[in-house]
Amino acid sequence: MPAPAALPYPPGRAPRRALWAAPMAGGASSTALVVAVGAAGGLGFVPAGYLSPDAFEARLAEVEAATDAPWGANLFLPGPTAADTAAVAAHAEALRPVAERLGVALGAPAWDDDALDAKVEVLARHRPAAVSFVFGVPDPAVVGRLREATGAAILATATTPAETVQVAGAGVDAIVLQGAEAGGHRGVLVDDPALPGGGELVPLLDLVAGARRVTALPLVAAGGLMTGAAIRAALDAGASAVQLGTAFLATPEAGTSTVHRRALLDATFAGTTVTRAFTGRPARGLANALARGFPDAPSAYPEVHHLTRPLRAAAARAGDADALHLWAGEGWRAVTEEPAGELVARLAREAGL
Ligand SMILES: Cc1cc2nc3c(=O)[nH]c(=O)nc-3n(C[C@H](O)[C@H](O)[C@H](O)COP(=O)(O)O)c2cc1C
Repeated sequence: MPAPAALPYPPGRAPRRALWAAPMAGGASSTALVVAVGAAGGLGFVPAGYLSPDAFEARLAEVEAATDAPWGANLFLPGPTAADTAAVAAHAEALRPVAERLGVALGAPAWDDDALDAKVEVLARHRPAAVSFVFGVPDPAVVGRLREATGAAILATATTPAETVQVAGAGVDAIVLQGAEAGGHRGVLVDDPALPGGGELVPLLDLVAGARRVTALPLVAAGGLMTGAAIRAALDAGASAVQLGTAFLATPEAGTSTVHRRALLDATFAGTTVTRAFTGRPARGLANALARGFPDAPSAYPEVHHLTRPLRAAAARAGDADALHLWAGEGWRAVTEEPAGELVARLAREAGL
């Protein structure tokens, strides 16, 4: 097998180690986490998801003021606008008792595009080493715009070999492969409502092998990677770098909520599950009551995300681990509270990076 292709980082902006801390929108990927990972030679990511363009701009300025190390950014691509409104209304009705228990009203299930165009222009004014897209095939013009403005390596996320071919067609420089084990939202290009995972659930090592058969682009492997041995296996299978999310969630630098952090460390949960109940897009998290209780939740992102937002905020305030999205990959039992820089150094050492 030929050696994996090198990631085309801009000159002077390559991280020392092929180990990335995944973008984790919603708070976990704090500036402190991005800075600590970068200082340890890894690549931390600033997620744009859910932020306003101004808040994204402020985050990027904060990171650039805090570190000279390379960093990456991540953008959500908007999905279809045609949610099944009757199905969303039925989900709202089913969730009403939970909202009442928490003393809040559900939110309005609106569609939005996560302000993609404005965030692209914000990012174009900064100096990321890598930019990754998730939830779709980026417009080749946007890929070109960001590459030209920032010099960054541009990536898109795929969950199957077929999706790998699709995103490669957009002219990206490399591909983030998200295996079935991954925590958080599944990066399926189109959420197939007939499938619980929104698409085929391909385990990471099979995905890397399958993607290598269909593209020569560099691959970044994500999903369930918690140990040096697992990282080594992904690299040996043909990945050029690895991206870890859950492994960083309990580090002191992460902005993970107290309830989420405690749930990951208590190990009281029996496992993880993929659910649309919280956001209308399949996502893997700890199998709490809300994740298990609504198997028929509709495919309607971001409508359901907006619908449940007040409920989730109230659950976080109340310390209620039953009604909060507790994103976690299948390897969550191996989370540690090590400082992020020590975690990067230890995993790199164990993986022989
Ligand atoms: C809390 C959390 C938030 C996430 N948010 C994002 C995001 O904003 N953008 C993205 O591309 N992936 C996101 N992901 C998925 C990660 O990029 C990655 O695929 C996943 O964390 C890898 O699996 P692991 O958690 O088992 O390491 C998120 C994952 C978690 C756990």
